[in-house]
Amino acid sequence: MPSQHKLPIVVLLSGSGSNLQAIIDEAQAGRLDVEIRAVISNKAAAFGLQRAQQAGIETRVLEHTAFDSREAFDRALVELIDTYHPGLVVLAGFMRILSDAFVDHYHGRLLNIHPSLLPKYQGLKTHQRAIDAGDTEAGASVHFVSRELDGGPVIMQASVPLQTDDDAESLAQRVLGVEHKLYPQAIQLFATGEIEQRDNQAFYKGQPLNQPLSRNPEPLLTSNC
Ligand code: GAR
Repeated sequence: MPSQHKLPIVVLLSGSGSNLQAIIDEAQAGRLDVEIRAVISNKAAAFGLQRAQQAGIETRVLEHTAFDSREAFDRALVELIDTYHPGLVVLAGFMRILSDAFVDHYHGRLLNIHPSLLPKYQGLKTHQRAIDAGDTEAGASVHFVSRELDGGPVIMQASVPLQTDDDAESLAQRVLGVEHKLYPQAIQLFATGEIEQRDNQAFYKGQPLNQPLSRNPEPLLTSNC
């Protein structure tokens, strides 16, 4: 598909960028109709920047430590992101709390992946909290970003069984495995217009989405028919 038919996206990250890699791989395989215009990090050492460069994607660093306030950093970040005119901003392990002004600016075109089955375990240390609670399953959620931390409408979820010998690290790795399948699929649903946000509600094919889609939405659709 020629690039003008692809959804322009900007990816923000702070770390390893394995989710970015999954998005790059799916786009290169022709299964994801996006053009990654830039990858931006608040950390110069983020390995995700190297992954982007390897794929020939433009990278930018905007260090939050250079700014006096969250609001000032977020204003500069918006300015930088908007030079790429994205139709969607993808948070892929971007470990920053976002100001209301940032979230409002990208309302309806800001996605995040979070390593828990939301609404469980908003915030940090999700895997340890799932283990400590004695949960039998853990997982990941893709959601539109709202002003509430990890509180926006959830689009898709995937779960993994929690094993008795799991520690936070082993569980994080297994959850990452499903994240890499989940996030590209959710982004593709946005790129095709099947998923959208109106006010604080997600819609799937024009209908309010009252429960998250599973990783492969088709069985869910069939059961709804
Ligand atoms: C992922 O597990 C992602 O869900 C999580 O950070 C990791 C980034 O991994 N995001 C959050 O915790 C955001 N609240 P990656 O850099 O290898 O993609």
